[in-house]
Amino acid sequence: MAEDCLVVTVDGPSGSGKGTLARLLAERLGFHWLDSGALYRVLALAALRRGLSLEDEAGLARLARGLDVRFEASGAGEPRVFLDGEDVTADLRTERCGAAASRVAALPAVRRALLDRQRAFCRPPGLVADGRDMGTVVFPEAPVKIFLDADLEERARRRYKQLKEQGIDANLRGLLDELAKRDERDRSRPVAPLRPAPDATVLDSTRMSIDEVLERALELVSRVQPQPR
Ligand code: DC
Repeated sequence: MAEDCLVVTVDGPSGSGKGTLARLLAERLGFHWLDSGALYRVLALAALRRGLSLEDEAGLARLARGLDVRFEASGAGEPRVFLDGEDVTADLRTERCGAAASRVAALPAVRRALLDRQRAFCRPPGLVADGRDMGTVVFPEAPVKIFLDADLEERARRRYKQLKEQGIDANLRGLLDELAKRDERDRSRPVAPLRPAPDATVLDSTRMSIDEVLERALELVSRVQPQPR
């Protein structure tokens, strides 16, 4: 890890708010942001479009290595994501894509293929990386590690609201089942399972506002690097 790049990792289950926290943290700190889930989602989308089996580990790893993916900052919102030059940001947020991402993410060769790509996001002055294994596998040396959790029902409600706001049709019961299934797969896979790093600070955001979570996170960062606030 580059010495002049301070890494803050934010891991947690789907809908815990880690994406929102990572984006706001990166903004406040003037750091880069890696949404690693988007990489798995882009890979899943590319595989679905090519009709590649989600069990074809070697084929998926090859696809992952050659993936033409680009992130483009879009003001204060989430960055736009381009696959083969096409803006696929909206396609990535569907539950179909999330479920497929969770399946391809369970394959060890796929995870290895995406490792260097993720580490390359580390550039001065720093990086906020969110995902499932940022603190355990991708950036194990990161000085600040956060594991953000929340009750399943609350996470499903948040995801429902988020999808509705984006104009995507959603069903709360279906989302809850999908999230539970996805979490189970992410937690129980043998490679890089979703779990807090031993040196991570676990925050339960069920009854916390995003501002409270952000303040706690900034406090943790300021312990290793005092920031102008
Ligand atoms: O964070 P997300 O919902 O966009 O992630 C989509 C899927 O990708 C998730 O179910 C598990 C997988 N993933 C992973 O295995 N490791 C990461 N670092 C990020 C995401």
